[in-house]
Amino acid sequence: MSAEPSYDELATFIEEEMAFATSHYNDSYLQRRLASRMRRTGCDGYDEYLETLRGDPDEQQALLDALSINVTGFFRNEDVWDGIRGVLQDLTEEQDRISVWSAACADGREPYSLSMLAADDPRIDESSLSVLATDINDAALDAAREGVYESSQTVDIDDQLSYLSNYHRFIDRSGDTFAVRDSVKDRVAFEHHDLINDDPKDGFDLVVCRNLFIYIDGEYKRPILRTLAESLRADGYLVIGKAETIPPQLKSAFSVLDGRLRIYRRE
Ligand SMILES: C[S@@+](CC[C@H](N)C(=O)[O-])C[C@H]1O[C@@H](n2cnc3c(N)ncnc32)[C@H](O)[C@@H]1O
Repeated sequence: MSAEPSYDELATFIEEEMAFATSHYNDSYLQRRLASRMRRTGCDGYDEYLETLRGDPDEQQALLDALSINVTGFFRNEDVWDGIRGVLQDLTEEQDRISVWSAACADGREPYSLSMLAADDPRIDESSLSVLATDINDAALDAAREGVYESSQTVDIDDQLSYLSNYHRFIDRSGDTFAVRDSVKDRVAFEHHDLINDDPKDGFDLVVCRNLFIYIDGEYKRPILRTLAESLRADGYLVIGKAETIPPQLKSAFSVLDGRLRIYRRE
């Protein structure tokens, strides 16, 4: 925790006036994002930036955008998707309905990857799949519902989608613009959900919650993982981010299916 009063004041303003729960995120992450906005706005210190924020609603929005850690992609970490493919194949063999929760889904590319993978793989019955996709960020959810993505200098959507045997069955492409077809969207429902403060869900066969813990302050990881564990049926599968770990106190709630890919089963 920073001892600087002006940093604390700024964090309090963001939390109370801008309704972004700074206390849930780790300080070094917040400070990197703030430093970047301060550079962009030419502010010299936290005090000056706080004054700018107070007087400028556009900068408040720009900071919120910078803080909502929404980096994502289709089929991010392809080796993990090989693991998810195996889980969906097993579930198809065992049951008629498969319910999956993509928790912290950002702009929708993760849940749409699930939906497309199910339709792409002949060993998975896509008609049995339903995906609930949730996030705390309403702007990300709006973008997700729209399902239109752009390649740019730093993002190659064509490359991301090349994990599939033929993505053109699922996507309408026009130049650098990639629109997800309704047949893929129909299996995915989007909803606002805060993994720290909202209730657990119930009975999911597979919960995918990736690349959120890396930004979250240590003390909130446990309540989030408890929420995820309670939302799974017995023997249900959990996938977390490749650089993430299950806190020691919750390890007994899961058995390890693939430690490298971070795929677990609820005990
Ligand atoms: C880096 S993205 C991860 C997206 C996707 N799961 C992936 O791995 O590509 C993290 C997402 O977590 C969301 N998030 C942050 N705090 C959250 C919370 N308390 N509850 C639910 N989602 C949250 C952010 O809005 C962001 O969209």
